[in-house]
Amino acid sequence: MRSHYCGDINETHLDQEVEICGWVHRRRDHGGVIFIDLRDREGIVQVVYDPDRADSFAIAESVRSEYVLKLRGRVRARPEGTINAKMKTGQVELLGLSLEVLNESKTPPIQVDGDIEVNEETRLRYRYIDLRRPEMLEKIRMRREATLNLRRFLEDEGFYEIETPFLTKATPEGARDYLVPSRTHENSFFALPQSPQLFKQLLMIAGMDRYYQVVRCFRDEDLRADRQPEFTQLDIETSFMNEQQIMDLMEGMIRKLFAEVIDVALPTKFPTITYAESMDVYGTDRPDLRNPLVLTDVGDLMAGVEFKVFSGPANSETGRVAALRVPGASSLSRKNIDEYTKFVSIYGAKGLAYIKVNDRAAGMEGLQSPILKFLPDDVVESIMQRTDAQTGDIVFFGADSTKVVNEALGALRDKIGKDQDLLEGDWKPVWVIDFPMFDWDEKSNRWTALHHPFTAPAGDIAALQANPGETISRAYDLVLNGTEVGGGSIRIHKTDMQQAVFNLLGLEEEESKEKFGFLLDALEYGCPPHGGIAFGMDRLVMLMSGASTIRDVMAFPKTQTAACPLTSAPAMVSDTQLKELGIKLRKPPVVESE
Ligand code: AMO
Ligand code: AMP
Repeated sequence: MRSHYCGDINETHLDQEVEICGWVHRRRDHGGVIFIDLRDREGIVQVVYDPDRADSFAIAESVRSEYVLKLRGRVRARPEGTINAKMKTGQVELLGLSLEVLNESKTPPIQVDGDIEVNEETRLRYRYIDLRRPEMLEKIRMRREATLNLRRFLEDEGFYEIETPFLTKATPEGARDYLVPSRTHENSFFALPQSPQLFKQLLMIAGMDRYYQVVRCFRDEDLRADRQPEFTQLDIETSFMNEQQIMDLMEGMIRKLFAEVIDVALPTKFPTITYAESMDVYGTDRPDLRNPLVLTDVGDLMAGVEFKVFSGPANSETGRVAALRVPGASSLSRKNIDEYTKFVSIYGAKGLAYIKVNDRAAGMEGLQSPILKFLPDDVVESIMQRTDAQTGDIVFFGADSTKVVNEALGALRDKIGKDQDLLEGDWKPVWVIDFPMFDWDEKSNRWTALHHPFTAPAGDIAALQANPGETISRAYDLVLNGTEVGGGSIRIHKTDMQQAVFNLLGLEEEESKEKFGFLLDALEYGCPPHGGIAFGMDRLVMLMSGASTIRDVMAFPKTQTAACPLTSAPAMVSDTQLKELGIKLRKPPVVESE
């Protein structure tokens, strides 16, 4: 049908006749001459129709945006002054020789050539038009290049891509499962995998040695800009490698990806930070290292003060009092500070105390704050010294449970870093290591796994049982600019350790056999030491392309309420289907009256 892509035509084709197909990006009528910008996947080329070719001119007059055309034209240089340096084909144009309309188009609800002003619901409902926008096409193209680049790296390193089932049993990664009822097994359900975690471990037991898969994962959880109910992992597992070897290999893979796809040189060695240090200094385990602001503990200084708001948490084992100094921000207005106070309240903070440093040399006189009256001068001076406060700074304080202080000041650090334009450098990857094995869940009064329950602890069973709360796991997360892009660990490869971890998690032998018996069995048949990692492909490409949400780098994402406006999924099903599945709805659908 065609000899060239629209976007590939250039000076090397001068005087040639070419045939192209594509969509009308724009049509302009210039007093007797009609210009059509024809677009396909590779780009846009300008075609000119003169009235002296009456047939095609008449058709050219009738075409509208997004009509699908096939045409023949002669390539010629654009006249002086009409060259468009911004366009790939901007040096040339086609003189239209023939024109055929392959299909018409209704006026699209989304403008393809220009800024969109439609809501996301419309963009998702007409995604096939939204994806025509060059900006979206570029993101999808980058995603394809990234996936290809990663696949090539792994193939070169001897990894096999192996598929694992979607209709399977629950794999715990901390979210709710998507369930699929079985027709052939009454009252039974499959779960869609939250990750291929157990299957990739079984592949190591099978001796596959190095596995990877570009794989869809399903998690029914609250959605955010970087979370979708189905998303893609680059999932990886290897045998006989320790955490440092795995991290080194993966670092090389990510460095190559950034260098080759977006021409970015990441550091030759990614820094590492322990979970404990990250929480202390940044209040989070996904620190954005471009942000120079840090949290400083001041609990010891506050332990003896009369101000209960501070001395309470300072004297509590589960409390924390921390300061966040923001250089050059003493000019923040009352209104700004009120807004920040409201912001931290989302995270449970009951207030946001502050000290403005108007003149550090003037001692107490140079400070301004509603809490000075509650604090002895020597305590204030120690705070100033410890936070290295300078004239022109503001120091914020958080006092509460460690959890609330970390979440509130961690989020405030992010927000102020962006508001005050403090971020330094473009790309700051960091490995977070030495995570605790378990988190204590107050509500259910039991331990939960911080990663998943197959992650190996650093010590032996006796050490684990003696002090579960203090046990460090052999897990590692890769964080890039404050986003967790990947996470993995060395796994438990012995049955007794796996059983001990299940027991600590409150899974008694019976229950763990029922849920994970196949894994416990498999561990008894020569399981090699193994470990791996999974990267969030959507998140990686979001960062690489500068998109603000992962929805923009997915061809067909779901809305914030986990629905698809294009297909109207999820949808009701027929009574016959329900009957076959043996399912009776607890709340039968409301039938609309005629
Ligand atoms: P984890 O649960 O940390 O680990 O997931 C790995 C990576 O997947 C991405 N990710 C998501 N991306 C988009 N939407 C979501 N809802 C979502 N949830 C997770 C993140 C995350 O770092 N089986 C383990 C990996 C392993 O131990 O090897 C796992 O799934 O970028
Ligand atoms: P109050 O005595 O409650 O008026 O608080 C005095 C100052 O301390 C105000 O600036 C409050 O915003 C702040 N404040 C109150 N509770 C906390 C807290 N838990 N952490 C940090 N600052 C607080």
